[in-house]
Amino acid sequence: MIELPETFPETGIGEEAVLDLLGAAAMTRAADLAAPDALAHMDPPSAPVAARMAYFVAQANQNMLHPATSPFATLAEARVLEWIAPAFGMAWGQICSGSTLANLTALWAAREAGARMVVASAEAHISVPKAARILGLEYHPVPVGDDGRLIRAGLPDLADAALVLTAGTTGRGVIDDLTSVPARWLHVDAAWAGPLQLTSYRDRLAGIEAADSIAISAHKWFFQPKGAALALFRSEAARASITFTSSYLARPNSGVEGTRSAAALPLLATLLAWGREGLAQRIERCMTITEELAQRLDADPRTVLKHWPESGVLNWRPLEGDAAAVIAALDGTSSAFTIGETVWVRQVAANPHADVDAIWARICAALG
Ligand SMILES: Cc1ncc(COP(=O)(O)O)c(C=O)c1O
Repeated sequence: MIELPETFPETGIGEEAVLDLLGAAAMTRAADLAAPDALAHMDPPSAPVAARMAYFVAQANQNMLHPATSPFATLAEARVLEWIAPAFGMAWGQICSGSTLANLTALWAAREAGARMVVASAEAHISVPKAARILGLEYHPVPVGDDGRLIRAGLPDLADAALVLTAGTTGRGVIDDLTSVPARWLHVDAAWAGPLQLTSYRDRLAGIEAADSIAISAHKWFFQPKGAALALFRSEAARASITFTSSYLARPNSGVEGTRSAAALPLLATLLAWGREGLAQRIERCMTITEELAQRLDADPRTVLKHWPESGVLNWRPLEGDAAAVIAALDGTSSAFTIGETVWVRQVAANPHADVDAIWARICAALG
């Protein structure tokens, strides 16, 4: 156990001594997200090439507001967006530090396009009501069915509303029906499941191309270090509506964030190293892991599976006894999601190195 000083030291101990002191702790006193039984959250192990590239990014410390001092990072960012946006039917996009900000950025553009209200499913991520609050927009949650999907019959008049559909809800990984609905603005929060569009599961996102904007976290199924996400837009007009200029800026500043990291470089490195096929294989592996576990959970008389997993998220519980006790016994390899009054074990396949037998052994041990 490392003893950290309780107050800010007057005299430093030196950089080498600090690395000896903190380096091991930072790596070992942290969950190993690539471990065979790591399946708890939407946090993937970083692609090794991305982690190494992130070191260069930190070293060079480029400011993406100044293309003259970050010429390569600026090119890398433009190129990554040119590769990804068209696959979703979008014209342009920007890198943000997470989908919380990508959702805020998109809903800001929606407000500039006349939206006065944000409508989303009751199981939308909290960043959606947060964005509505920040933007001063009314927030209208719509009930979900037993399957966790937004009930379209429950939608209000959307003439002045931004409708947010979720592709991969946080709790259940459920994909709302993404086919177009007449609304002032249609935003798809695809923070989690968006990358399925680049895999053999792309049919699950049918209709996403009709969105006005899409948020995708790169630090989820693009296997990037935090924080990296993409906010994608269908129309160029949206860009102008969220762009500011100033005499001190070398180029117009678009979106919510100002000074931010060159997060596109690790993403570019990953996409170049793996290609679309390599990325798809890893995501498809994650999908297979949850499908195989779902089969076992469904067949086992000790467990109840809530739904067939749609995007690598499992919800299950013991037939008898307390899910909370099982979650505690799973010791950080699962999380919880409450539906109504019932607590469900939640497991998320963000780790393509997870091993079904290793996870099953932990589940069996936790069931006692
Ligand atoms: C559906 C959904 N939207 C948005 C977010 C927020 O994403 P980020 O953590 O990248 O800010 C999450 C995070 O888990 C999410 O699951």
